[in-house]
Amino acid sequence: MFIPEDKISEILNTSDIVDIVSESVILKKSGQNFFGLCPFHSEKTPSFSVNPAKQIFYCFGCSAGGSAISYVMKYHGLSFVEAVKMLARKYNIVIETPQLDPARRKEIALKEALFGLNKKIMAYYSSILAQNTKADGARQYLEKRGITQKTIDAFHLGYAMDQWDGVVTFFKNEKISRQAALQSGLILPRKQNNGFYDRFRNRIMFPIFDINMQVAGFGGRVMDDQMPKYLNSPETPVYSKSRILYGLHAAKPYCRKNGTVYIVEGYFDFLTLFQNGIKNTVASLGTALTSEHVRILKGYAPTMVLVFDSDAAGINAAKRSITIFMKEGVDTRILVLPRGDDPDTYVMNHGPEAFLDLAGQAKSVMQFLLRTAMDTHGLSVEGRIRILDEMKHHLADIQDSALRSVHVRELAETLNIDERAVLEKIKEQVVQRKQGQPFVPDSRGQEQSFASDPREKQLLALMLHCPDIIPEVTASGVLDCFYSQRLCRIAKIIVNADPVEKSFVTHVMAKMEQERDKQLIASLAMADGFGEETDLGNTAMSIINRIIRIKKKKENILTAKIMRAEKVCDADVMELLKLKQQEIRQIHDGQ
Ligand code: GTP
Ligand code: MN
Repeated sequence: MFIPEDKISEILNTSDIVDIVSESVILKKSGQNFFGLCPFHSEKTPSFSVNPAKQIFYCFGCSAGGSAISYVMKYHGLSFVEAVKMLARKYNIVIETPQLDPARRKEIALKEALFGLNKKIMAYYSSILAQNTKADGARQYLEKRGITQKTIDAFHLGYAMDQWDGVVTFFKNEKISRQAALQSGLILPRKQNNGFYDRFRNRIMFPIFDINMQVAGFGGRVMDDQMPKYLNSPETPVYSKSRILYGLHAAKPYCRKNGTVYIVEGYFDFLTLFQNGIKNTVASLGTALTSEHVRILKGYAPTMVLVFDSDAAGINAAKRSITIFMKEGVDTRILVLPRGDDPDTYVMNHGPEAFLDLAGQAKSVMQFLLRTAMDTHGLSVEGRIRILDEMKHHLADIQDSALRSVHVRELAETLNIDERAVLEKIKEQVVQRKQGQPFVPDSRGQEQSFASDPREKQLLALMLHCPDIIPEVTASGVLDCFYSQRLCRIAKIIVNADPVEKSFVTHVMAKMEQERDKQLIASLAMADGFGEETDLGNTAMSIINRIIRIKKKKENILTAKIMRAEKVCDADVMELLKLKQQEIRQIHDGQ
């Protein structure tokens, strides 16, 4: 659903953050702010603050912060749209659906029809499991696998009868349109074009929910060793394998609370973990993880633990996923279970505590890759060269230079090879890549690899505190001199925001996509100690001049170094310096 921007403004202007937070936190006034115990981390003395003038909250303990919308999202584990809707209901604000072109309207209508139809079929399958005598075997199967009635109800498990026309007849009786019925993927046309038949027959049914709790598709498992063991819905307008993670709809508040999410492969892995209290879990359903999956999960937890079986298939799946996680810059750990176990059997046999113990020892990505390379190649001279060859690809993937050098040292020590040799190999790899494809700097990586000048943050804080200085900031061109691309991007959002009367800060936040950017804004807006209002203009000007001067100086130093290197003909150094200069320019030109 699309919510027009003016509605979001209206909600932010009408709602009162003190009012909203008070529903869940006891607040006490102290000076301009209210203080209370933070609902997002455990603490004994209040470090959670709410500023009514700016309509924001910020916790000095755990850095959680944002607008009223962010608070509702975080506290209730809701998506942005869900939180906006909840606030709109509370303040009696009507959100009209905007006028859409006919094609788009048709698409939305089809999606809604499919969601509605899936929901009906979910109820149909689960009532069969609950009541039909022909589902005795299915109920026994679930019992044998240790799935409780509570879990069956919570995840709406069901059973598809051993017949060809169960859903076909259901659709007929419900007068479902042929187009919607076919697009749902639940029925298929017969070969001779005479009618349809059910896709899922004699299977335990698992509805697959999207994050808005709508039924997007289904998976079905046989109860014996027939093939295929699992059958899933095909891609439909509402079901896309590259986006959906099984269980996320239920796991999301726990992922937020925990900061960690376990990624397992199967339905039963998920259900067993969840049932045993390890609720910050999602299942990839055996498909390869995509960067879309990772980006979705990033919104819920910064740390991800990939849980794999120790068989060759499991290890290979882990290796394939790792590249994606590294490119997305996520803190990833790999948990390989003891031979013969998957998460389901491990927790069933050893209990959740044992699983959490193992998870605590999960390896970092680099440790994991090194360990598997060592297992494959051994530590002979030849083996170590192969290991280095394998690891250079992964090391070259790491964007953060400090992190990379830590791993280089670790690898050099483990293989007992000179660190310089390792660096040489990585350079080779980088050069090879550059020749293979044009040099496209990864903006995410650069955001991390260049530390910011504290003055840049100060300037941002000043703009939030006193929007009057914004025209001067723009005119000075200082934003293009920012060292940090992230702060530059954020500053540009501030500069382009409307200086509306009430609560400038929350309007700026509303324009941010990333949660961590909103938190930064909250922390900057809460910063005090700018002195008298009249001084702010001068303070801003001196910061601006300083940033501009530093940038010029840096560029001059680099140019001088390049000229010196050219004189002595140090081609390597020259290449590096030019690259650096190019990088720095790109940062300043950036976005
Ligand atoms: P159980 O035997 O029920 O415990 O399943 P599992 O989850 O341990 O199975 P496995 O590790 O073999 O597979 C992991 C996930 O991959 C499953 O949950 C399915 O989502 C998917 N999968 C497994 N087998 C098939 C199959 O034959 N076809 C399809 N489409 N998916 C499968
Ligand atoms: Mn299993």
